[in-house]
Amino acid sequence: MRIWAIANQKGGVGKTTSALCLARCLADLGQRVLLVDLDPHGSLSRAFGIAAEPPPQGTFDLFNGESIARVARATGQADIQLVAAQAAMATLERRSATQPGLGLALHRALIGADGDHDFALLDCPPTLSLLLVNALAACDRLLVPTQTDPLALHGLEGMLRTAAMVERSRGRALLRQILPTLYDRRTRTSS
Ligand SMILES: Nc1ncnc2c1ncn2[C@@H]1O[C@H](COP(=O)(O)OP(=O)(O)O)[C@@H](O)[C@H]1O
Ligand SMILES: [Mg+2]
Repeated sequence: MRIWAIANQKGGVGKTTSALCLARCLADLGQRVLLVDLDPHGSLSRAFGIAAEPPPQGTFDLFNGESIARVARATGQADIQLVAAQAAMATLERRSATQPGLGLALHRALIGADGDHDFALLDCPPTLSLLLVNALAACDRLLVPTQTDPLALHGLEGMLRTAAMVERSRGRALLRQILPTLYDRRTRTSS
């Protein structure tokens, strides 16, 4: 299974939209895709009509040792499964102080699901958090959607610094690709 994280520490750059589009394109090519919603806001889960209440099974459960096979759900789209966001994910930050090894929880869960999916796409939150570190520790490719205006590019530097830091600590190469989004050639700031 190939694992791609879609991340940028800036919000509103098109991470979730890119994850959705990539999932659809890969599924159309006959690939079995697993989407993992790592953003406590749950935009990706909402896109599939999954409500925040009652709390669905999903990403938080992976941090309690649950397997992907048990919490992944059908999406109504052939070949795309989803691990939904849960509001409780926001409490993980506190737990990480007392629970060593939590940074690799997603990595362990994905190893357990190898063979069930061809691709895992990790839709990340817009913050430097335990959830983002989990995605960077687990993935083999990092896609960084970014708008092309100067302020957005400043945010990009922060993301690439974080990626370099995680790459050093995990001791395994992390391929990075920048994905320009929301380009509007009518504006000067875009170019
Ligand atoms: N290529 C695009 N063209 C037009 N609007 C887009 C495009 N990509 C994303 N958007 C819109 O931009 C907003 C932010 O996108 P989203 O994917 O939620 O960003 P993020 O996940 O980085 O916060 C959404 O309203 C989305 O519909
Ligand atoms: Mg998003």
